[in-house]
Amino acid sequence: MSVIKILENEHVTKICAPMVRYSNKCAGVDINCGCPQRWAMEEGYGSHLIKKPELVAEMVSSAKRRITDPDFTISTKIRLLDDLRETVDLCRQIEAAGADFITVHGRTPKQRSEPVDLEAIKIIKESLNIPVIANGDIYTIDDAERVGEITKVDGVMSARGMLENPAMFFGYAKTPRECVKRYIEIAQLKEPRFMTFHHHLVFMLEKSLPKPKRKVFNNLRNKEAVLEFLSEHYFAQDE
Ligand SMILES: Cc1cc2nc3c(=O)[nH]c(=O)nc-3n(C[C@H](O)[C@H](O)[C@H](O)COP(=O)(O)O)c2cc1C
Repeated sequence: MSVIKILENEHVTKICAPMVRYSNKCAGVDINCGCPQRWAMEEGYGSHLIKKPELVAEMVSSAKRRITDPDFTISTKIRLLDDLRETVDLCRQIEAAGADFITVHGRTPKQRSEPVDLEAIKIIKESLNIPVIANGDIYTIDDAERVGEITKVDGVMSARGMLENPAMFFGYAKTPRECVKRYIEIAQLKEPRFMTFHHHLVFMLEKSLPKPKRKVFNNLRNKEAVLEFLSEHYFAQDE
């Protein structure tokens, strides 16, 4: 038992060191207790952590103690436990440890395409005083408003919806051409790996290219081919 405790404390120190190091370079740090991938679970990271409320609370309070900037936020993102009371208890411990906000993906680590449990998010929101952000299956601004109305949360987070349409929160139904153009300009400056560059465009063009063209685009293998394709089949077409 005491060995586990020592390892856990080392875990906390390891997690806090980079938070302190980078705290003057970003606005906050979010502790990921939501990733359900097997490698993360096996290593004791990601959503494995939701079963360890004391450890998560210790990470939050240690980070809060070490970082004195009052504007720097420490937050956590969780998935649901099978038992809602235990989930609320986890959130209360995170809140008591000093977290600035909590994001809740309304699924358990085992769930994939099951509906997001908005009722659970609503109860978590009612049980806490810090802001709660709802996550899961928000693809349009209407989804965001519906989730807000049902759960009464303070904000929403979208992952896949934002990959498909980074302008979603501006009310666009699909990625505007201007956004793709701007993305390419930024990519020219930052030079991400081809796979990253291409993958983002694959997501962004999902709703804009007809299926046969998408098939060709998705199989392109270098930046020059991507730029040539876009100039011929995307930028030259009517919106
Ligand atoms: C490319 C990608 C990377 C992700 N990485 C993480 C991660 O590191 N940690 C985490 O908690 N969730 C991660 N997620 C899950 C999202 O944060 C989010 O909880 C999930 O996709 C459900 O939200 P959505 O329906 O808006 O996509 C990732 C999702 C995507 C699409």
